[in-house]
Amino acid sequence: MEQTFIMIKPDGAQRCLVGEIISRFEKKGFSLRGLKLVSVDSAFAEKHYADLSAKPFFNGLVEYIISGPVVAMVWEGKGVVKTGRTIIGATNPADSAPGTIRGDFAVDIGRNVIHGSDSVESARKEIALWFPEGVVEWQSSLRPWIYE
Ligand code: GTP
Ligand code: MG
Repeated sequence: MEQTFIMIKPDGAQRCLVGEIISRFEKKGFSLRGLKLVSVDSAFAEKHYADLSAKPFFNGLVEYIISGPVVAMVWEGKGVVKTGRTIIGATNPADSAPGTIRGDFAVDIGRNVIHGSDSVESARKEIALWFPEGVVEWQSSLRPWIYE
């Protein structure tokens, strides 16, 4: 089934939003396949955000991501890439709807709490980068209650 890479950024971890964020993905019906708390260095953060290297905010973005531990996760489910982005909300919290993670918990675009892969292809690359050891093979016993 489809998988996505979700990362709680350093502000999300510092602000004690880890449990709340995990809970939102769990309650939706998605399955957790990988989870770790990690501190990454600038070379790794630059690799993760390589597509944005020409942007004026790139250096600030890298400094932000390396400023503390992040929670790296792989979530699985039908349409999880797109629906995960919907749960997260618009990039700029000023535009994120209430009820989304950024809409409920963030104010500034440079402190927007959480990352989610933007396509199935990006998810594949990001999961390979963050979880080279692989993820956990399991199937939730709730599956028949979530999928017809
Ligand atoms: P991610 O899930 O983190 O990848 O966010 P996104 O896909 O919603 O947005 P995008 O990939 O375009 O940008 C990556 C991150 O860079 C954003 O989440 C912001 O933290 C930051 N960012 C994007 N645009 C701006 C900007 O105009 N100014 C600043 N300061 N940061 C920005
Ligand atoms: Mg992005």
